[in-house]
Amino acid sequence: MSSSKGKFITFEGIDGCGKSTQVKMLVEAMNRSEQKTISVREPGGTVISEKIRDILLHSHLQDICDRTEALLMTGSRAQLTYELILPNLNAGINVIADRYIDSTLAYQGGGRKIDIDWLIKLNQFATYDLEPEVTFFIDVLPEEATRRKSKEKDRIERAGIELQTSVRKAYYELSNRFQERFVLIDGHDSIDDIHDSILAELRRRKLFS
Ligand code: ADP
Ligand code: TYD
Repeated sequence: MSSSKGKFITFEGIDGCGKSTQVKMLVEAMNRSEQKTISVREPGGTVISEKIRDILLHSHLQDICDRTEALLMTGSRAQLTYELILPNLNAGINVIADRYIDSTLAYQGGGRKIDIDWLIKLNQFATYDLEPEVTFFIDVLPEEATRRKSKEKDRIERAGIELQTSVRKAYYELSNRFQERFVLIDGHDSIDDIHDSILAELRRRKLFS
């Protein structure tokens, strides 16, 4: 990737771990330091991807089979990557994503037990082979995440603590498999301390100044 391209940074973790809070703070910090930056969230982020999101997360549609779930998640990702992420990176704008490829590996792989190596190939197809430069895995105990999410739960969140526990385990496996890219963050720390450690890690990697 040429140095004039934007940086692509992703956030991962179980539902309620604090990703969206940190994505917002990081985008603000980067824009304050004159590094033009946008955020995206998955599933969703384009008109088509938001329609796919409605199907995926609507709590009345309980009959989606695991393979359809995997294909719709990656379908939403392909559209987002093609329409928003790649054009912005190519224009030199940084993109911070609230969930990306690793969510499929953790939820559809670890959670729904679909073969991880196959999902990696599916992700490569959906992303035009784009990979994040760094991935912050914000780790919290499922019990803490459930306490934090007081609002009405979507279809996947309603699957409960057992799914979140398998997903969390899968994220640990991913952080071992992709050690260069993954940064483990203790999500039980305060919001400001987490933000500071994210900035410190980005400085260390020369992705923030
Ligand atoms: P996610 O995007 O991972 O689902 P959010 O960022 O929306 O999580 O956070 C879920 C809830 O937890 C929000 O009410 C948020 O204010 C709160 N929260 C986020 N980070 C922390 C933290 N480090 N400590 C305590 N509460 C937090
Ligand atoms: P959302 O409310 O956007 O995220 P969060 O709960 O983290 O704030 O919900 C997205 C849900 O979709 C979440 O439960 C994770 C799930 N998901 C997958 O199962 N696979 C995927 O590939 C993605 C991107 C999300």
